[in-house]
Amino acid sequence: MAHVIAVAGKGGVGKTTLCGMLIQYLCEQGKGPVLAVDADANSNLNEVLGVKVETTLGDVREEIARAELSAENPIPAGVSKADYAEMRFEDALTEDDDFDLLVMGRTQGKGCYCYVNGLLQTQLARYQNSYPYFVVDNEAGMEHISRGVLPTMQTAILVSDCSRRGIQAVGRIARLIDECEMHPDTVGLIVNRAPKGELNPGILEEIELQGLHLLGVLPQDEMVYEFDCEGRPTVELPADNPVKTAIRGIVDKLGL
Ligand SMILES: Nc1ncnc2c1ncn2[C@@H]1O[C@H](COP(=O)(O)OP(=O)(O)O)[C@@H](O)[C@H]1O
Ligand SMILES: [Mg+2]
Repeated sequence: MAHVIAVAGKGGVGKTTLCGMLIQYLCEQGKGPVLAVDADANSNLNEVLGVKVETTLGDVREEIARAELSAENPIPAGVSKADYAEMRFEDALTEDDDFDLLVMGRTQGKGCYCYVNGLLQTQLARYQNSYPYFVVDNEAGMEHISRGVLPTMQTAILVSDCSRRGIQAVGRIARLIDECEMHPDTVGLIVNRAPKGELNPGILEEIELQGLHLLGVLPQDEMVYEFDCEGRPTVELPADNPVKTAIRGIVDKLGL
């Protein structure tokens, strides 16, 4: 069964960057194949990983949900809706050497998505037998997990910037995890973009107030930011990049 690692936090704190480096490190250690899941509506994990995505699950869900409403039904005669959906979900899997990427994407417009979401849920559950790890890049609400489309996580990594408000936001996500009964084995905090990789005492105090378990700190690093600005995949950063090195340390400590 796949070990599901969910990464969550508010926008712009470095979730996608962290996911990319985490996926890369798991693959380097021969722990693949990893299923990378981009569950953020603002999907861009593919850019960090340096892969191109043709189809999102949102596109497929929409196609299936609207099949009967469209002028030309895309589902060929004699093929069941469930079989067709399964085939199209497979199309949405972007394959790389050590990992595959699935983009949840968005759905909009008319049609009922309950049935198709159910099919997707079944398919994703089946994928749990084919991958040792799922790494899920979430938005703060973790919608796809809380609604049960994506399986629940064993490890929740909450990411914050170096601000009190960031830590408070992550505290709310930790409470959401409790309320939604996701029951991860580990819930831990990573503080990103710390100047010189050090935490200010005020931030440490807020972490304690929120009752969060600090897994580690990632330094502010100009090269990470420059790569992003230039549209270069984060995974192409040198192996001795300080953020990458810090992530490896945290993953080792987590025993993933
Ligand atoms: N440790 C870091 N040092 C410098 N820049 C960083 C660091 N981590 C992330 N960034 C930059 O911050 C921005 C937001 O990161 P991103 O991973 O897209 O955040 P999120 O997925 O949480 O929205 C990007 O420009 C990224 O390159
Ligand atoms: Mg992101």
